[in-house]
Amino acid sequence: MSANNTQFFSKIGLIAATVGSAVGLGNIWRFPAEAQAGGGAAFLILYILCVVALGIPVMLAEFSLGRAGRTDAIGSFSAVSPKHRGWRYVGGLSVVTAFLISIFYMVVAGWTLEYLFESLTGGLYSGVSSASTSEAFASKMDTYISGGWRPMVFTVFMVLINLAILLGGVTKGIERLSNILMPLLFVILLAFCIVSLTLPKAGEGLVYFFHPDFSKVTPSVILSALGQAFFSLSLGMGILITYSSYYPPETRLVRTAGTVSFLSILVAVMMGIIIFPAVMSFGLADHGVAGTTLVFSTLPEVFVRLPLTGLWSSLFFLLLAIAALTSTVSIVEVVIRCVQDRLGMSRKAACYWVMIPVLVLSGICSVSMGMFNFLDFLTAEILLPVAAMGVCVFVGWIAPKSLLSNQLTNDGSIRSRVIGLCLFIIRYVAPGLIFLVLITPLL
Ligand code: PFF
Repeated sequence: MSANNTQFFSKIGLIAATVGSAVGLGNIWRFPAEAQAGGGAAFLILYILCVVALGIPVMLAEFSLGRAGRTDAIGSFSAVSPKHRGWRYVGGLSVVTAFLISIFYMVVAGWTLEYLFESLTGGLYSGVSSASTSEAFASKMDTYISGGWRPMVFTVFMVLINLAILLGGVTKGIERLSNILMPLLFVILLAFCIVSLTLPKAGEGLVYFFHPDFSKVTPSVILSALGQAFFSLSLGMGILITYSSYYPPETRLVRTAGTVSFLSILVAVMMGIIIFPAVMSFGLADHGVAGTTLVFSTLPEVFVRLPLTGLWSSLFFLLLAIAALTSTVSIVEVVIRCVQDRLGMSRKAACYWVMIPVLVLSGICSVSMGMFNFLDFLTAEILLPVAAMGVCVFVGWIAPKSLLSNQLTNDGSIRSRVIGLCLFIIRYVAPGLIFLVLITPLL
C-alpha cells in the first residue's frame, strides 16, 4: 500500500492515536505547575475555555487541511490550494518544528524510561534516608538527568523503540501501539486518582486545586492558558495535519476534535486530582510542583512515604513513558511522512533517514542542557505559534471557502452547525490571540 492511501483501520484506533499524541508530558507535568501558578481552578477554567473556544476550531482547521490534502504537512497546503504554492512553507515550518521538538522531547522521554528502570530495580530508592529525602532525590535527579552516559543511553533506547514502532507503519505500528497503551494509561491514571483520594489530606489538596483564586489571573496567566491549550492539543506541530491525512472520508471531524479535546482535558484534571492531594498530604507543596522537579523529585518523595513504594513508582513512570512514547511517535511521523511523500522514499528508507539524525542529535542533546533549553525556547515561544498562526490564516483566508464546510460535513453528507463560528474564530480570533502570545515576551 503506498503512503498516499494509508488509513487508520478503525474509529477507535484513530481516536486512540490522536489522543495518544495529545496526551503527553504537556498534560502530565506542565498542567499542574501552571495550575498552581495560575490560581488553581481559575487556571483550569481559562484552560478549558481556551481549548473549547480556540483549540477545537484550530484543530478542525488542521484536520480539514490534512484530510483534504491526503499527504504530508507540506504537500497538504499545495494540494488544497495549488495556486498559492508559497504557503507550503508554512507546512515546511511545521515539519522543521516537529523535527526540532522530537530531538529534545526524546531526551525527556528517555528520562521517563530511566526512572521506570530505576523504579523497577529499586535503584531510585536505595540509600535514601527518611530524614533528608528532598536532598536525596534532588541529587539522584542530578545523576540521572545530567549524568553523562546514563541519560544518553536511555535517550538512544527511546529513539530505537520509536524506530521499531514507526517501521511497522500507520496501522500495524502507531495504531496498534495506541490501541494497547491508551486504555492502559487511563487505567493507571484512575488507580492513582483512587490512591490520592484516600490520602490523609486529600480534601485539602482538592480544595487547593478546585478553589478558583481569580486574584492570580493576570494577562500573562491568560496567555499561559492559551499556550497550554495549544501545546496540549498538539497544535502547530504538523501532527494533526499528518494524522488526519490517515482519517477515512467518513470520520466525523467535529466529533473527533471534541472527543480528543475532552480526553486531553480529562487527563489534565486527573493529574490535578492526583498531584495536589499527594503533595498536600505529605507537606511537600512548597517542594515544587513544577515540571522536572515535580516529576523526578517531589513525586519520588511521595512514593517513598507510601507502602509498596516500588510498585507505585514503577506504575507512575510507566504512565509517563507511555504518554511520552505515544507523543514522540506522532511527532516523528510528521517528518517521516514528509520525507516519504516529498522525496518518494519507501516507508523503511524514510524511517532510517529520519531516525538516524534524530538519534545522533538527541544523543548530543541529552548531555547538553544548553542545546535542550535553546530548542525548547525556539520551538515553544517562536516556531509553534508562527506555524499555528500560518495554518489559521491559510485555512481562514487563502484556501477555498469550501474547504472547511466540505470537511466538516463530509462533503455534504452530514450536517454541521459550527462552520460559521469556526471560520470566524479561525479567521479573526485565533490569529489575533496567537500574535499576542508571540509578541508578549518582547513587550
Ligand atoms: N500534546 C503533546 C503534549 O502535551 O506533550 C504535545 C507534544 C509534544 C506532542 C511533543 C509530541 C511531542 F513530541
